[in-house]
Amino acid sequence: LSSEPTLIIDGKAVAAAVREQVATDVASRVAAGEPKPGLATILIGDDPASHVYVTAKRKACAQAGIASFHHQLPAGTRRHTVLDLISQLNDDPSVSGILCQLPLPAHLDEQEITNHIDTFKDVDGLTIGNAGRLALGLSGLRPCTPAGVMLLLDHANVALQGKRAVVIGRSSLFGKPMGQLLLAADATPTTCHRHTEDLAAVCREADILVAAVGQAEMVRGDWIKPGAVVIDVGINRSPDGLVGDVCFAEAVSVASAITPVPGGVGPITIACLLMNTLDACRAPATSFSTG
Ligand SMILES: NC(=O)c1ccc[n+]([C@@H]2O[C@H](COP(=O)([O-])OP(=O)(O)OC[C@H]3O[C@@H](n4cnc5c(N)ncnc54)[C@H](OP(=O)(O)O)[C@@H]3O)[C@@H](O)[C@H]2O)c1
Repeated sequence: LSSEPTLIIDGKAVAAAVREQVATDVASRVAAGEPKPGLATILIGDDPASHVYVTAKRKACAQAGIASFHHQLPAGTRRHTVLDLISQLNDDPSVSGILCQLPLPAHLDEQEITNHIDTFKDVDGLTIGNAGRLALGLSGLRPCTPAGVMLLLDHANVALQGKRAVVIGRSSLFGKPMGQLLLAADATPTTCHRHTEDLAAVCREADILVAAVGQAEMVRGDWIKPGAVVIDVGINRSPDGLVGDVCFAEAVSVASAITPVPGGVGPITIACLLMNTLDACRAPATSFSTG
């Protein structure tokens, strides 16, 4: 075992640096007479958690000098009204990014609504167009949380080429794109889910272990290869406050680097949303600038 102390990856600091960089780039665009990026947010219904998320995103836009246009719709809004609004925003040149906050009320089809967003304005990276571009190894807008994890790994100087990476979770929002991003970075990823046999043994092979399961402290210390890098995406409420999908107290003495919960992956998602909004504004309509 290495005698180096375990690196606690400071997601807040990385997120602050990204947000500052976006603000600087936006300010120089505006000073050069170029259009200001703008994010349109759509919130349907009154889910309190969704309100908190959208408010935080709009506040972050304001701090970075990005315009934000909010559309609050009642829970019973009909499908064609939402699709018409998205069509309008797709055509509006002052809107560089569009975000429709999930989950949607049950009568709306999330796939249909999300996919109506123009691929080049899809700052959540969730349309079939952007998921397809990622799967094909093409540039495009990437989902914010896995893109943020790549930034954290880069910040911590984690070498990925040729390394075994294990992602627990296969959601479209996180697990699948995470595996694709690791593959694009020349790691050798395995994506696990609830049917994976002997999950602990698969995890023990990982040089980089990413947990996005939604099960408090499921990953134990003895699931981790000594010296592995552990990224904990989970956010679970417990009587002691927020806890991740990894048992931090056990993992911290085995891993070479680990993200805490809170303060690890959490803060980076909004920072990546701002980055995507700026990239969407910069990208000409026919190609993407993001790698
Ligand atoms: N920090 C952030 O900004 C951020 C962003 C996104 C998500 N999160 C957090 O990350 C976690 C996952 O989010 P998500 O949206 O990806 O969740 P999700 O859609 O519920 O997906 C969870 C995944 O975990 C797998 N899983 C569940 N129980 C398992 C078990 N016992 N063994 C192995 N695999 C299991 C599921 O497998 P099946 O596919 O087989 O069902 C599924 O693929 C949540 O805690 C969420 O709050 C945080």
